[in-house]
Amino acid sequence: MLLAGKKGIIFGALDNNSIAWKIAERAHQEGASIVLSNAPVALRMGTINQLAEKCNAPVIGADATNMEDLENLVRKAMEHFGGGFDFVLHSIGMSPNVRKKRDYTNLNYAYLTQTLDISAISLHKILQTCYQLDAINEWGSVVGLSYIAAQRTFPGYGDMADAKAALESIARSFGYHYGIKNKVRVNTISQSPTATTAGTGIKGFDDFFDYAQKMSPLGNASADACADYCISLFSDLTRMVTMHNLFHDGGFSNMGLSPLFLDK
Ligand SMILES: NC(=O)c1ccc[n+]([C@@H]2O[C@H](COP(=O)([O-])OP(=O)(O)OC[C@H]3O[C@@H](n4cnc5c(N)ncnc54)[C@H](O)[C@@H]3O)[C@@H](O)[C@H]2O)c1
Repeated sequence: MLLAGKKGIIFGALDNNSIAWKIAERAHQEGASIVLSNAPVALRMGTINQLAEKCNAPVIGADATNMEDLENLVRKAMEHFGGGFDFVLHSIGMSPNVRKKRDYTNLNYAYLTQTLDISAISLHKILQTCYQLDAINEWGSVVGLSYIAAQRTFPGYGDMADAKAALESIARSFGYHYGIKNKVRVNTISQSPTATTAGTGIKGFDDFFDYAQKMSPLGNASADACADYCISLFSDLTRMVTMHNLFHDGGFSNMGLSPLFLDK
């Protein structure tokens, strides 16, 4: 019961492959009370109500790029919890350029703006809304999900690489301000390739899943393992960890060369 008595908002559970879905299940198992949120279109198309029933959690829709939606969500969550909450999961990503298979050398800039807004600036919008409404309790924890394309080039990842670099930067920058204000910590987890709706939408997903699997001494980290790690970051056991991008990738990020690729 690592999260006994804790309350939090979980963004981004679309279906039971979603990383956020696994995190919500684990948070519930560990004794947390949660509110689930996703974009209105995802509420219509996904299966979030099954998760809500399982976790005994209300679902409050919010487009994470829309400040009015976010304010409404945070106010309603505070009403539901009877005050502030302790953790927030940002598990949100979408690139219209990637979706429409536009190469990085042929981006549509209106789409790029949407990619950045949905996948990165939304973290700032959520944090700013919580900060201004004083919604996150002392020693609270905010986690966003990232990918190593923020540091290294993975050509098929397109403009999501730029979004992830911005996401990690926002976590660092806001981590300072929220730490000073209320000892709230902000981190990102850089997760292995994972077979989800967002993951498999990336060009060549199967190939880079297999590549990372071979390259990582422990193999790729699953969504369930990501949930375990995330619970540790929401818990009091990691109170002094903030402003970090934390690799959760079976060792992938520190590898140079694997003999597996030299086998003839
Ligand atoms: N799957 C992977 O390989 C992988 C690896 C590293 C990081 N990540 C990151 O993990 C996070 C979760 O993705 P996932 O793999 O679980 O896929 P997913 O498709 O299940 O989740 C993405 C979520 O983003 C939500 N979303 C999109 N636009 C939104 C908006 N405007 N407002 C609110 N929500 C919105 C979707 O509805 C969906 O629930 C993303 O940030 C993704 O980039 C995924």
